[in-house]
Amino acid sequence: MNTLVFDSLRRLNERYESSFIRQSLAISLDRTMKANRTRVVARAFCSTANLGSGFDVFGLALNRYSDTVKARITSGRAIRIAVRGPQSRDLSVDVRKNSAGPPALDLARKAHLKKGLEIIVEKHVPQGLGLGSSGTTAAACTKALDSLLDLQLSNDELVRVASLGEKAVTGTAHADNVAASILGGFVIAYDNPTRTICLKPPPNLAIVVATPQLPVQSGKTRKARKAIPERVRVKSAVLNIGRASAIATGFAQGDVGMIGAGMEDEIAEPYRQHLIPGYHDVKRMGLDAGAAGISISGAGPSLVALVDRKSHDPRLIAQAMVKAFAQKNVPSTSFVARPAPGATIVKEV
Ligand code: HSE
Repeated sequence: MNTLVFDSLRRLNERYESSFIRQSLAISLDRTMKANRTRVVARAFCSTANLGSGFDVFGLALNRYSDTVKARITSGRAIRIAVRGPQSRDLSVDVRKNSAGPPALDLARKAHLKKGLEIIVEKHVPQGLGLGSSGTTAAACTKALDSLLDLQLSNDELVRVASLGEKAVTGTAHADNVAASILGGFVIAYDNPTRTICLKPPPNLAIVVATPQLPVQSGKTRKARKAIPERVRVKSAVLNIGRASAIATGFAQGDVGMIGAGMEDEIAEPYRQHLIPGYHDVKRMGLDAGAAGISISGAGPSLVALVDRKSHDPRLIAQAMVKAFAQKNVPSTSFVARPAPGATIVKEV
């Protein structure tokens, strides 16, 4: 009897041990495979930043355009960037000037990488429209390298690293666009060092972007940032804090009307609106057509309207905004988008 009990206990123990060993082997094999990855492809969507009162804090990912970054470990020690795709013209491949470069340098340092990197940017997000183009590339590159180098950074760390790319292109490491492109949906990027809060946008939210066709200026965001005074009046800060709170609460409660009601801005828009011909009329006609709120998208010149698509057809709001630009003799284009998910790994080898 005792022998029987002992035997069955021994068999149970062996089974337990072998399954434990199998599991441990699987985990360490998985880690080794990850550590041995040599090629990763990541994709990130473009975004609209600020939403008026959330200057440098709010970002919303849009499913209209996305950039893809292919990253590969190479022999040698250099980090090389190549650019391809329909929006790659005039894009620098200099590691200090392309928004993929500073995140790549930082991540290679964090990983103690003794080899080189090849980063190929497939550029689809148009530059200079206010759709977070540089931030999208920085986000895709950060996501790709975090996986390639098996760093497993937290969301906040990913956003901090990606914002280094913004610094290279615009002069400041604002995190609103990169946070939206990395994390998806509506993102609040706040504090120093940056921390993030993500909220899932309401399912009835549609986004209209209307873009006046103006000559694309190099260094546009840098210039648009310089246009904003260093000091803010307390009255303006109070108005913005209240409205930004309404936006954040609107996202938390899924109330598009509340979001739209918070989209007026006292800090940046008063100093940027003269850069957009027809700004007041386009806003008025878009709001009259039923937009919940309208603001400059990022540093402009696009205007972004948030729309409750249950009660209003976003295409009609887009038409109204394009018509208003036309009445000022400004040709424009428009599109309707929906919130986008965060950056994803498309392929790992
Ligand atoms: N928050 C930034 C700005 C977004 O308005 O300057 C543009 O990159």
